[in-house]
Amino acid sequence: MPRTTAFFDKPIVKIVRPKTSSGLPDKPILRADRIFKSYSKANLAIPVLKGVDLEVPQGKLTSIVGQSGSGKSTLLHLLATLDAPDSGEIHFLDNRIDNLGRRERDRFRNESIGIIFQFYHLLPELTTLENVLVPKMIAENFFRYAFNKKAYVERAKHLLDLVGLSHRFTHKPRELSGGEMQRVAIARSLIASPKLLLADEPTGNLDRENGEEIMTLLKNLNDDESLTIVMVTHDPEIANESDHTIHLESGRVALKAA
Ligand SMILES: Nc1ncnc2c1ncn2[C@@H]1O[C@H](COP(=O)(O)OP(=O)(O)OP(=O)(O)O)[C@@H](O)[C@H]1O
Ligand SMILES: [Mg+2]
Repeated sequence: MPRTTAFFDKPIVKIVRPKTSSGLPDKPILRADRIFKSYSKANLAIPVLKGVDLEVPQGKLTSIVGQSGSGKSTLLHLLATLDAPDSGEIHFLDNRIDNLGRRERDRFRNESIGIIFQFYHLLPELTTLENVLVPKMIAENFFRYAFNKKAYVERAKHLLDLVGLSHRFTHKPRELSGGEMQRVAIARSLIASPKLLLADEPTGNLDRENGEEIMTLLKNLNDDESLTIVMVTHDPEIANESDHTIHLESGRVALKAA
């Protein structure tokens, strides 16, 4: 698996973060305070998150673990601004993000967060290269995209190279293995140089070998570039490899050292 440094040495993607005197970033990149979230089904409210408090340190790999149905994906979706809590606040550095209007929320997500899912969510009719470009196509109007397209294509190719897929630019998702599809999804999540990567069971649909490759890739991004990663996982071995583990239990969070 290629290391990431060669690519990220390019100024366009170098991530610079404030450091404290101890060498660690001082402010959590994400903070959630007293988050409540229920779903309603047949007029019944099903409480899922019941006062979640958490902090995500910058530059670390954080795992979220908990039983199936404990609300891990629900929580990740709230952190990603894909859904809003019923009450409570979520802050990204100095900005409150749980109450943004739709446009601001979409812009914030496009600019600051990369997201990967267990089932990749690639568009089947597009090539690998086009899939990586999708966030830019969505985020920008036709003229701006056309104006910048050459640079974006260049960057998408670099990212595919970074994840070991430079020989697969023109393949469609159905022509790729599961591990390769997840690598495309990782490349797509990095196209906008996010400060934070959120991953929901990124290895959950892969065999052990492919799962380990994806973990190596994510750990390289975290180690080499201090890219902050928050990852939902069922796998205790994967959780053990992270810097922090957030345990979700009975709709609340207990933050313990990994
Ligand atoms: N859209 C929805 N409508 C109603 N209930 C939902 C909805 N989405 C999730 N739930 C319920 O909320 C609870 C938490 O779901 P969630 O998907 O967050 O769990 P999870 O911890 O990610 O589980 P898993 O480990 O199986 O992925 C579950 O009981 C689920 O049935
Ligand atoms: Mg889930």
